[in-house]
Amino acid sequence: MLSANELRQKYLEFFKSKGHTIIPSASLIPENDPSSLFTTAGMQPLVPFLMGEKHPAGNRIVDVQKCLRTGDIEDVGDNRHNTFFEMLGNWSLGDYFKEDAIKWSWEFLTDKKWLGLDPNRLYVTVFKGEDNIPRDEVAIRVWQEVLANSGVSNGVANEDEMIKAGIRIIPLGKDDNFWIAGATGPCGGDTEMFYDTRPEEGEINAKFSDLVNNFRLMEIWNDVFMEFLKTADGKLEKLAQQNVDTGMGMERTITVLNGYTNIFETELFVPLLDKIAELSCKKYQDNERAFRIIVDHIKAATMILGDEKGIMPSNVGAGYVLRRLIRRAVRYGKLLGIDEIFTFKIAEFVIDMYKDTYPEVKKNKEFVINQLTLEEEKFAKTLENGIKALKRIFAKAIGGIDPENLPKGMIIKDNVIRVDGNEIFHIYETYGLPPELSQEIMTEWGIRFDEQTMKESNEAFIKHQELSRTASAGMFKGGLADSSEQTTKLHTAAHLMLAALRQVLGSDVFQKGSNITSERLRFDFNFGQKMTPEQLKKVEDLANEQIAKNIPVISQEMTLDEAKKEGAMGVFEHKYGDKVKVYTIGDFSKEICGGPHVDNTGVLGHFKIQKEESSSAGVRRIKAILE
Ligand code: ALA
Repeated sequence: MLSANELRQKYLEFFKSKGHTIIPSASLIPENDPSSLFTTAGMQPLVPFLMGEKHPAGNRIVDVQKCLRTGDIEDVGDNRHNTFFEMLGNWSLGDYFKEDAIKWSWEFLTDKKWLGLDPNRLYVTVFKGEDNIPRDEVAIRVWQEVLANSGVSNGVANEDEMIKAGIRIIPLGKDDNFWIAGATGPCGGDTEMFYDTRPEEGEINAKFSDLVNNFRLMEIWNDVFMEFLKTADGKLEKLAQQNVDTGMGMERTITVLNGYTNIFETELFVPLLDKIAELSCKKYQDNERAFRIIVDHIKAATMILGDEKGIMPSNVGAGYVLRRLIRRAVRYGKLLGIDEIFTFKIAEFVIDMYKDTYPEVKKNKEFVINQLTLEEEKFAKTLENGIKALKRIFAKAIGGIDPENLPKGMIIKDNVIRVDGNEIFHIYETYGLPPELSQEIMTEWGIRFDEQTMKESNEAFIKHQELSRTASAGMFKGGLADSSEQTTKLHTAAHLMLAALRQVLGSDVFQKGSNITSERLRFDFNFGQKMTPEQLKKVEDLANEQIAKNIPVISQEMTLDEAKKEGAMGVFEHKYGDKVKVYTIGDFSKEICGGPHVDNTGVLGHFKIQKEESSSAGVRRIKAILE
């Protein structure tokens, strides 16, 4: 048996022995990245450094990163999808490339001192070349060498060839072996490692995709060779440096290492499933899907709430995803017959499971428990009424029939019904039943809304969500920031604004959050009352003075202690481990920050505050632009 903690330790230790610096996990909520609500991969917080900025911890880095992918939330419940997961990753930021990355991956996987996996059970895929990018001959050669050295066959599959004895290396196209986090950003061909989970079924003789789909081969690790930048117009440019970005899935690796068939059999889920069994007096074996959804969603909600950013359930952005996770879990809890407030009871186990790896979840325990309970209470009250309203809509659409007692033999064409989407949205507004959940409840009755219904309800929803980009289904996937010039400028403007706010309102004002798109910056800070027009004007003037003075923006690396001694501000201090980056703007502003920033304030143009409003109790929010 290998525990999750042992795997984390081994991974970090192995790469440390190869000259990597260990850094702590970054937040689950990305910083200054308007296109992504959550950190979806270990590389995401490292994007500026993949693009050439110098990382304070050096050019070889290793970490265990908290990640969240809600793109396939509806798939949770099968045996491999989950929303919160951990990614073990090692990075070369312009240092080593394919050869070392592959050799070290193999050594870590197979050496008895490390994971000691049987080399005969490992298969790899490589990029076969497409769209003017050639086949990855280097990766193929290196794999052939390491496999031969381990005494394993090392044949390369031909296009669409069956995988059978002798074949170990499978070249695949862009869909499988070219990796990018979103629509734009650093990217490149990759090589993925798969483990044969059922060797007892005898020698493999099947199509690769079938082996993956029937879970005989389970992907456990991906080494991406990031050498391109995909721009907004879809072009691939060569990056200034060649990087390696790897991701080993914690949950899957623990699964295969311990001989389990799915992630829910591991220590990362079993205690949570047991608790659900106790609360519901039902058996996991009889209700796999519901159990899995509940524990997955409560775990994800706990990790979001336990993050340093203090996100709360709300109707927009990350807060909405959080709300949806909690409500979906509660609904499945009710279906299992749990009729007490229960999510916090599962959260306690989650916190216990992760408290040593991510101490912030322990630190924020009270907040987690309170928020979960509040949200659950709110939802429990409204769920019943929401379902009643949904039944009324259904009955109206097909003529007074209760969907839970459809007359035998009654046929609804293709099981699809058409109702006004605004009514579905209205149920959300009135009873708090999110449209997706309405759709899901309908599905349980054997009916779907037609596309037009969902389109209308989504449109109403988006209108309601103001600036949110998360509303419509399918937009929950992470992407990467457009690190456009304008975003960088606004980022620097945010530093000027914080310094100005502190001069005008007092030095106990601190940043509480920020969100920057290429159009505007949004900035939250603690302050007890509405700012006066004079105060706002003063803040603008101070920032514009600094812009007019053409002051260089200087970045320096130092230890956290040195930065604190120098009086640098910083809300996300622990993010890059020991060494931090400090950005200084004359004697006006000094902040710990990952960047990027402009080189000189002179390029910013004119700074203008558009709106100052309340964000939550004791927190104000400013929206500002550069013109
Ligand atoms: N960035 C790569 C992934 O997430 C390693 O799979």
